[in-house]
Order: sequence, then C-alpha cells, then structure tokens
Amino acid sequence: MPKVVVALDVNERERLNSILKEIEGEDVWVKIGLEAVCSFGLDIIKELKEKGFKVFADMKLHDIPNTVESAARVIVRNGADMLNVHCTGGKTMCEFAVRGVKEEAEKLGIKKPIILGVTALTSMGPEDFGAIGMRGTAREIVIRLATLGKESGLDGIISSANEIRVVREYFGKDFVILTPGIRPQNGSIDDQKRVSTPTEAVKAGADYLVIGRPITASENPKESLRKILKEIEEACNS
Ligand code: C5P
Repeated sequence: MPKVVVALDVNERERLNSILKEIEGEDVWVKIGLEAVCSFGLDIIKELKEKGFKVFADMKLHDIPNTVESAARVIVRNGADMLNVHCTGGKTMCEFAVRGVKEEAEKLGIKKPIILGVTALTSMGPEDFGAIGMRGTAREIVIRLATLGKESGLDGIISSANEIRVVREYFGKDFVILTPGIRPQNGSIDDQKRVSTPTEAVKAGADYLVIGRPITASENPKESLRKILKEIEEACNS
C-alpha cells in the first residue's frame, strides 16, 4: 500500500510537537524540508526516528556536483531514509549525489537511503515552465527529467499525479514515484497548481503521497490523517 509522508513544514518547536503528538503511532513517514531544517537543524532527523518515523529529508539539493555530493553525504550521516535532488541540476550533479549516498551508506553499514529527483514542482503550471525556459508540457518535462534521473542512478522521481501513469509506462514498477500536491476533494489548493486527490494518486500508481497542510493545518490533524489513510486503503482495494 502507498505510504503517506506528512510534510512537517513548521518553524516553531511547539507547533512541531503538537503535530507529532497527533500523528505518533500512525503508520506514516514524515518529511522535513527547508523550513524545518533551517529552524531545527538536521539533528531533528534523529529525534523523529527515535519516535519511530521514517524520515524524508526534502532538501531538494541543487548546486555544483561536488557541493551536492557533500551535502548528500551529510544528510545520510544524519540518518535520513530518503533524500532528493533537483533533476534540473543536471546528470553529473545527480550522479555525484548517487555516488555520495551509496558510499556513505556503505561506510556506515546501513541500508542505502532512497534518492529521488524533483522533476517539475507541483506549484508550477504551464505559464511558469515557459517563463523559466522549460520547453513542452508538464508531462514532456517530467519524462525528460525522469530519464535523466534514471540514467544518473536515482531510485525514482517526484511528480504530480497527472504524470504518474506515463512515468510508470516508461520506467516500470520498481521506479519510485512520490507525489505531492495532494488535496482531498473540495480541499483548499493553497499555493499548489497541479493537485490530485489521494484516490487519484493511488489509482495512478504513486508509491508515496506527500501531504502537508490538509493534515497539519486542519482543525483535527489526527482525524484528517485517518480519513486520508482510509481513503487510500479503499482506493487500493477497489
Ligand atoms: O502543504 P502541502 O501538502 O502543499 O505540502 C506539500 C509539500 O511537498 C511541501 O513541503 C513541498 O515543499 C513539497 N513538494 C511539493 N512539490 C514538489 C516537491 C515537494 O509540493 N514537486
């Protein structure tokens, strides 16, 4: 069954603790991104793991290959189960990141964390792609960048639910697909543009569903999470 990854996009300790209290004991991963890491440091990974969560360090690395490789090694040393780079950083950058992750995991004698490539942010639509010089439709962009990611040795990619089917067709069932931009039916889309419901993402074949505000900004996070988990289970069984 696809896993829910709860996005902990917070910068205050109290807020973080209250969300963790709501989701502790549930069968979910958690994700820390720029906001959480800038606030709490990478040490937070250890703390989250002690609470029993698998942790996705969503740092979206994008820099020269050497810098990205070094940062990837640091993230592995801090215990992340999953990390990511921007495929737009290019093939060499992705290859260096993959090498850093593999070597560091071997050195530590741990299972290699999953390393994914960001293709096209779910907050971007057609007009945004054109404005930064990305040619083609979202689907074409995702396939182009997923191909680069696959050739670089990445384990999978991050894309909106709209592109999952075509990515599966091209790269098969073992290629990991993580999908953000998940919104329950009639939920507020916030700053996201290419959104889908949990059911749509599951039916399309996502392995991981990243969900932030529909859970963390809800009046009752535990209930919202449970509703989503139930919807996912039903979608898997139907
Ligand atoms: O609150 P919401 O569900 O929109 O949060 C989505 C999370 O997924 C955010 O933390 C965002 O950084 C992340 N993300 C995304 N689009 C991507 C990759 C990651 O929205 N392509």
